[in-house]
Amino acid sequence: MSQNTADYAQLTRTVDYAALIARLSLEEKVHLLTGETAFTLPGNDTIGLAPLAFSDGPTGVRGLKFAGGDAVALFPNATLISGSWDDSVAEEVGRMLSEEAHRQRIHVVLGPTINLHRSPLGGRLFEAYSEDPYLTGRTGSAYVRGMQADGTAACLKHLVANESETLRSFMDSRVSETALREVYLLPFQMAVEDAGVWSMMAAYNDVNGVAATEQNHVQNEIVKGEWGWDGLIMSDWFATKRTVASANGGLDLVMPGPSGPWGERLVSAVQRGDVAEATVDDHLTRLLRLAERTGGLRASGSDRRASTFNAGMPSPDSSLRREQLRRIASRGMVLVKNNGGTLPLMGTGDVTLIGRHAVATQDMGGGSAQVNPPYQSTVAEGLTELLGDRLTVVDGVAVRARPVAAAPSFVRDPDTGEHGVRVTLLAADGREISSRHEDGTAITVGWDDDLEEAPAVVIFSAVLANEAGPVRLGGIGAGHWTISTTTGPIAEAELAVAGVDPGETMICQPAFTKTLDLPEGAVVTARYEFKALDWPQMLANNPALELAEESHLLETGSYGLVALVAEPAVRTDDAAIAEAEKAALQAGTAIVVVGLTEEDETEGSDKTTLALPGRQDELVRSVAAAAERTVVVVNAATPVLMPWLDEVDAVLIAGLPGQEGGRAIAAVLTGGAEPTGRLVTTYPASDSAAPAWTVTPGEDLGLEYADGTAVGYRGWHAGNAPEPLFWFGHGLGYGSWEYGEPRLVSEDAVPTLQVEVTNTASRPSRETVQVYFDPAEPGQPVRLVGYAGEEVAPGATVSVTVACDPRLFRRWDESSGSWVPMTGQGSLLVARGLGDVRARIPMP
Ligand code: BGC
Repeated sequence: MSQNTADYAQLTRTVDYAALIARLSLEEKVHLLTGETAFTLPGNDTIGLAPLAFSDGPTGVRGLKFAGGDAVALFPNATLISGSWDDSVAEEVGRMLSEEAHRQRIHVVLGPTINLHRSPLGGRLFEAYSEDPYLTGRTGSAYVRGMQADGTAACLKHLVANESETLRSFMDSRVSETALREVYLLPFQMAVEDAGVWSMMAAYNDVNGVAATEQNHVQNEIVKGEWGWDGLIMSDWFATKRTVASANGGLDLVMPGPSGPWGERLVSAVQRGDVAEATVDDHLTRLLRLAERTGGLRASGSDRRASTFNAGMPSPDSSLRREQLRRIASRGMVLVKNNGGTLPLMGTGDVTLIGRHAVATQDMGGGSAQVNPPYQSTVAEGLTELLGDRLTVVDGVAVRARPVAAAPSFVRDPDTGEHGVRVTLLAADGREISSRHEDGTAITVGWDDDLEEAPAVVIFSAVLANEAGPVRLGGIGAGHWTISTTTGPIAEAELAVAGVDPGETMICQPAFTKTLDLPEGAVVTARYEFKALDWPQMLANNPALELAEESHLLETGSYGLVALVAEPAVRTDDAAIAEAEKAALQAGTAIVVVGLTEEDETEGSDKTTLALPGRQDELVRSVAAAAERTVVVVNAATPVLMPWLDEVDAVLIAGLPGQEGGRAIAAVLTGGAEPTGRLVTTYPASDSAAPAWTVTPGEDLGLEYADGTAVGYRGWHAGNAPEPLFWFGHGLGYGSWEYGEPRLVSEDAVPTLQVEVTNTASRPSRETVQVYFDPAEPGQPVRLVGYAGEEVAPGATVSVTVACDPRLFRRWDESSGSWVPMTGQGSLLVARGLGDVRARIPMP
């Protein structure tokens, strides 16, 4: 626990919460236990409680608006943070996020996401750190320490066994008590024990037949009981399914508000005796403690959050943030192949840069983790800054199946002339509710929109920055669309939602486009007639879902993300591949940037394949056949297939690198920065070739966590899947390493190990020594138990000490319901990923 965290913990003990709570009626207490808006809580003057403000999380502090909020710093995604295998990086990220929170008067940041990469198909893995619970727990703990050190609460999410998105509100994760304890709860436990985290978020899914928000076993018995944790558990947004079971099951706060399954229903439940008033008081005590810790309780004589609000914090596009975000992004990138020292690029030869991700670099994933950054840098911009005329840039093949919201630079508000659009909202009777300028081209309707009255019609108006010729126009959002130019209507569509989960469908709205010939600088309007969907009816018609009438989900129906689509029509994939081939023929080095997009790496849906979307594999192969040397940059956070691996010279995994992403990638390619990352997840060689694959629950909505504790590389090592493409822990960096004989330096049951490493390369580099435990006890999988990194000068040798973590040397015994030591000893492996084991030492 850091000094500051300890100070805050100390402070909270001085407040008499019971005395404050005694001043409130039952109704007033219950009122405080549901949000007031999408992201704020109600305050209460009688007890000096300020309205607390929450913000997503985890890769930037977005602020109080789901879409279209202020410009805020966009951080590298979670796998780039954990990819550095360095606590100081995660701690720095936590500190920076806390500054972002202070700048915006946010008390609680909704992160980190510490669910695991179980199946590589999980759509939301980009938000989470790793397939390994220990790496996840250490990274998460460091992030929490950094964030809470100056009074911003972190929120661990999502408790628990929330590793996929398909039917996320209804599915049941079926996981053994052993796997729950040893694997899925371990990162939460570490962040409680090692970082004193202040809040957690209960997940959408059920766990072993009980909703996560009602998990008496997890929330009350384990987290608050066994771990003795005094923090607050809030629901995921609209995840509370039943009143009494959630209040008694350990949930402390329902989000969002103002309505929900608690309120009057909870008051009646207390009056009926179904929920004890003492239980309500406990929830409120935890809420007041959170407020106190984050400066939202004036009872102790301060409103720290208001007074620590600091417009002087670094702005999202300050030079300080630029440097930090660039450095952190490149630290976590992983060089997985580098034949003949292809990278970093040497000499003065010409370089050809190819690919849609080169010109439109994917800097973040989709869903609630998205923020509105001040700018995004592309690889093309980053490399042009460094190579100037030596660089030729060629756009690539299409990478998306669905359209995206128009780039603000392609549209202007017809009234103000600023980049962005004019949005006019009409009531059902045609009255204008508002007409305003929007910097972006996507808005939410019916929720989180600061409107007194729900609009029935949204009209986007824009002047396009098009040349005369084909333009792709369209809309995103369920409802009726009519697109017009000055000459009248030119396209129309009726779009209906597909899924059964209102939250999922909000994030993945239906969309349409039409390519039309337009004059230069065309003026367009897109009229969207919003149809409120009868979700209660739709969900009630589906008996398998078994929703209680108070389920919060039933209130989420009438909102959605709505966006205007407008972009110049692009050339065909055939033309793109032909052009790339031609450019590659003249190139000394060709760099192809491929990747996924927010369609694949997103909250709200899972992937169905690890293959790169569109004809990107074909593009790589054509370039590799033509160019002298080919480097592939993979702009994605999670595993992709590489059928062309043997045909290319180098491969860099660049993650979703945030607003400085393009410059970070350029620095790594040219050697200005080292990609010191090691893989945080194993890369399968083909679809299905993984210890856990399917993310689709069965007919009874159950998803079996049949891999037990042998998650990811543990299962690969046990032979539960064919040899992977790249092992967890793999990563070359720009050094090259010789290892000495490792020695055990402690006599304790939990080992500390020392090993000398020599950097045999001609440039300074950083090595991460990884220690795995391979237990003698049959059926116990190998597991990471410790790691430490060190910067080493060329030719130098340093001694690296790795202290292993005792929590990985025990096992959960279901028959006695307790932790027990393993039988027999086993060996420790010192490895650069399990594909490159440097030493095996038997444990004494
Ligand atoms: C996500 C949470 C997020 C919340 C608020 C939910 O859809 O699962 O992670 O914090 O929305 O945006």
